[in-house]
Amino acid sequence: MTAKNPICVALDTPDIARAASLARALKPHVGYLKVGMEFFYAHGAKGYETVAAEGLPIFLDLKLHDIPNTVGQAMQALMRLTPCPAIVNIHASGGADMMKAAAEAVDGRARLIAVTLLTSLSKADIDAVGFDPALDTASHALRLAKLTQSCGLDGVVCSPHDLAGIRQNLPRGFLTIVPGIRPEGSNVQDQKRIATPSAAIAAGADILVIGRAITGADDPAQAASTIRAGLHAG
Ligand code: C5P
Repeated sequence: MTAKNPICVALDTPDIARAASLARALKPHVGYLKVGMEFFYAHGAKGYETVAAEGLPIFLDLKLHDIPNTVGQAMQALMRLTPCPAIVNIHASGGADMMKAAAEAVDGRARLIAVTLLTSLSKADIDAVGFDPALDTASHALRLAKLTQSCGLDGVVCSPHDLAGIRQNLPRGFLTIVPGIRPEGSNVQDQKRIATPSAAIAAGADILVIGRAITGADDPAQAASTIRAGLHAG
């Protein structure tokens, strides 16, 4: 699936009025809105519904990671939101049984995606967690992506640097959602494994998650529109 407009803007704010006004301003320029933990934990279903009412499909980025029974029940609760989120996610490192429990609960009502490795983690960070240091990050991400696909999920969240291996080894219909996006010359901040929007699309990204490069701009709508125009030009 390649979205017509592959930009998913991360509304990383706990402020409900700001989230709603960003959603309204960005609606003509982006394909999806991403609602994350800081917003959902602060405002719950009511806040979610306020943002979703702006009409764009929602990626509800709560990255569930717990025992299979808990994740399955949490997913069932998320499927009762109105409207149902277009995309929901879990951590692939929660294991096969957890992913299958989530898939059963979602039951095709949303795209279910697994996070491979957070883009804020460097190789040293990943080694420190206890992953095999002989493998590079792309190999870890590919292993987790293969496990994700074998559990019947729709795709993964991965770094732009991990895309090539995933594209070479998994079917084209397997969705890749890619954060760590930084337009040429913008501030890297806490992200470590990054790419420009057009480089990520060229590497096979289906959806680009972009937060601060849009929401932190003086004119977020203009920033989103410029990024989108750059994708068509590239
Ligand atoms: O501001 P920035 O573009 O770095 O925001 C990236 C967004 O993508 C944040 O909402 C972050 O939670 C999310 N994300 C990420 N890395 C992942 C998964 C999600 O940065 N592996």
